[in-house]
Amino acid sequence: MIHSATQQDIISALQWYIDHGVSDCVLNDPINRFNIVPEVPKSAMISAISDIASKQLQENIQTFLGKSDAYDEAVKLAKSANSLEELAKAIIDFDGIAIKKTASNMVFADGNPKSEIMVIGEAPGAEEDRRGKPFIGASGRLLDKILSYIDLSRKSGNPEKSVYISNILNWRPPGNRTPSSAEIEVSLPFIERHIQLIEPKIIILCGGVAAKSLLGSEYSISRLRKKWHDYKPRTQAINSGNISIPAIATYHPSYLLRTPIQKKLVWEDMLILQKRLGFSVK
Ligand code: URA
Repeated sequence: MIHSATQQDIISALQWYIDHGVSDCVLNDPINRFNIVPEVPKSAMISAISDIASKQLQENIQTFLGKSDAYDEAVKLAKSANSLEELAKAIIDFDGIAIKKTASNMVFADGNPKSEIMVIGEAPGAEEDRRGKPFIGASGRLLDKILSYIDLSRKSGNPEKSVYISNILNWRPPGNRTPSSAEIEVSLPFIERHIQLIEPKIIILCGGVAAKSLLGSEYSISRLRKKWHDYKPRTQAINSGNISIPAIATYHPSYLLRTPIQKKLVWEDMLILQKRLGFSVK
């Protein structure tokens, strides 16, 4: 005899399916999920696509219309600069980097040019772009604080206790996006000449972009930090006299602002640095 299912029967049957791992209803006909368009708001999709397209376009333009011409020009200008003033002028005169047009100011350096320690970050942010100085926004304030714990300051007149600060890129990438490889490539001769003119005894590399670009490494910052590297200029024309400078890489302060739990790792790096500098921690 067939009897109609009660609500309790249906619930028991569903529970039986769930207990056996059946969690999705399927239809009689298969669905081709490769053809399903994700439900992303149109405006978000357009902006994501245009970000990718403009980055790609920029890389393509530089590949097809002479990336090497821009690079050669950067090397020529950087090499011929014999002082910080001449280098700043060379960077301003160089037209091979498109973000120069969207930036408000060229961001060159801050701190004591006689310092034995050079700090190198990625690229200027909004505040730096407005005021023409590196690391003066929220991440710069955190950087100053971190350095103060090992008795270093950009304001100190003492070459052993001061720092000199610059970035891989001298112009702000729009919207603070990560610099493209083409932008890094044409900026490298300038920062390498900058290092050569300052002649620091120690380099601190803040974040993955600075560390990978100057050490010529594909490793992530988590693998590059916590140890000493020998920085050697990668721009052949600038590598006169076999320069080799001890460099330590650490997390970028803007990453620490987003992920404060990692501050302890930067502290480890600062202790390694402090040991080499040979003065006591505050
Ligand atoms: N982040 C950097 O890498 N450099 C700056 O100057 C500011 C923020």
